[in-house]
Parts: sequence; C-alpha cells; structure tokens
Amino acid sequence: MIQTVIAAENVSMKFNMSKEQIDSIKEYFVKLIKGKLLYSEFTALSDVSFSVQKGEVFGIVGLNGSGKSTILKIISGILKPTTGKITVRGTISPLIELGAGFDPDLTARENIFLNGYVLGYTKKYIEQHFDEIVAFSELAEFLDVPIKNFSSGMVARLGFSIATIVKPEILIVDEILAVGDYLFQEKCEKRICDMMQGGTTVIIVSHSIEQIERLCNRVMWLEQGKVKMIGATASVCTQYKNQ
Ligand SMILES: Nc1ncnc2c1ncn2[C@@H]1O[C@H](COP(=O)(O)OP(=O)(O)OP(=O)(O)O)[C@@H](O)[C@H]1O
Ligand SMILES: [Mg+2]
Repeated sequence: MIQTVIAAENVSMKFNMSKEQIDSIKEYFVKLIKGKLLYSEFTALSDVSFSVQKGEVFGIVGLNGSGKSTILKIISGILKPTTGKITVRGTISPLIELGAGFDPDLTARENIFLNGYVLGYTKKYIEQHFDEIVAFSELAEFLDVPIKNFSSGMVARLGFSIATIVKPEILIVDEILAVGDYLFQEKCEKRICDMMQGGTTVIIVSHSIEQIERLCNRVMWLEQGKVKMIGATASVCTQYKNQ
C-alpha cells in the first residue's frame, strides 16, 4: 500500500534581508522615520510541491543556495513556510546542521545524553544504548574530550550514531555523510539501507551525486528555490550532471 508520509503543497519561503549596513541607532531611526529602511525580500523557495512515500529514500540535489536545507528545515518544523502547506506523518530524526543539539564545551559522553534528550529519548533509553552509540561512532577513546576539539567528521559520526539508534519513521540527512571518511560513509549507507528495509523513510541532501545514485529511489532537483525536476534517480541525476 502506498502511503504518503511527506506532502509539500506549493511551499514558498521568503526571508527578510536588510539591504544596507546601518552603522548607528541614530541612522536607524532617521531611516525608519523617513520610511527608508529598506528590506529586500529574498525568496529561498517558491511553489515547491512534492510528496514522499513510506519507505522511500528521497534525494534532493541542487547547487549551493538552491533551497535544499531550507526545505529540510520546513519538513522538520524548524521553519514555517511563508505560504503553502507541509504535511508530515511520523517521527522525525533530523540530522541537519552539524553539531546542532550539541554543546561544544561538553564532552562526547555528556553530549550523547544532551543530544539524546533533544531527540526525545529518556535517560534510561540512552543508558541502555550508550555502548551501541559509542561502538558505532568508533569514538570510544574520545568520550571524555569536549567536542569543540573534535574534527567535523568526528562530530558527524557522533550525531549520526545518536540519531539512528532508534529507527525513526523519517530520517533526514543534510550533507552530514559527506564529512565522514569513506569507511564511515559506507557504514552509514549500510545503516540507511537497513532502516529502509525496516520501513524508515529517508530524505538525503548530498553534493555527492554518486551517493545519491547509490541510495535514492527518487530525486528532486532544486534550482534557485524552484523544482526543476522530480523523478527516477537515474534520469534526474543524468540531467543534473549535464546542466
Ligand atoms: N535565515 C535566513 N535568512 C536569510 N536568508 C536565508 C536564511 N536561510 C537561508 N537563506 C537563504 O536561502 C537560500 C537557500 O539556502 P539553503 O541553505 O536552503 O541552500 P542549500 O541549497 O542548502 O545550499 P548548500 O548547498 O550551500 O547547503 C540561500 O540564498 C540563503 O542565503
Ligand atoms: Mg544546505
């Protein structure tokens, strides 16, 4: 049975950006009074519609600034779209910004608990799965090091290990696989495939087209905030590479 877990209908996202540098409060008020405080609206997403079915691995590709992270944040509920509608059915583990949900001054051990709570796990649950999280991350030697001293790959390992310890109904992965070394990437890909078998829906953003081609059933290509193409992985990736 086909079951839609994510549906985006005409989603648009506009950001307000101050057009000019204002150097003082006085200048700010003068401009405010004169009505000259200019904000330009920047449209990061316009009229984006797509749906993702249960158990799919859905890829999103596009150049820098095309709106990929923005749509992931909207799906995760971190941002509200300016217009349009997003419907999500199921629990989400968002792996969006490297280190979001981590405190750099705390050790890896402490961050496992902190990040676990952010993801809604109980203390008991984290304790029960602690060794498994550490084993998957291969960071046992660094458990008592503050993570501000971690490399970006190490932070990614820890984040991925924590977020995938439960099988979320929806896993969102933004670029994070790319910073792990190739051995860890293989491990993550295997875990994603296992989750898929178990019915987890996965959304992946990656600049590695090979990775998208290996993992995804369908791909959406965003170009300047608009859907350029949605379809089978091979046809979208071929055209994306030949643009
Ligand atoms: N909070 C914000 N305020 C203003 N502009 C923003 C904000 N967040 C994103 N943008 C703008 O929206 C556009 C899309 O950003 P987004 O992060 O979604 O791109 P992306 O496709 O993920 O790019 P990348 O491949 O570099 O990760 C960019 O031009 C960005 O500057
Ligand atoms: Mg991004």
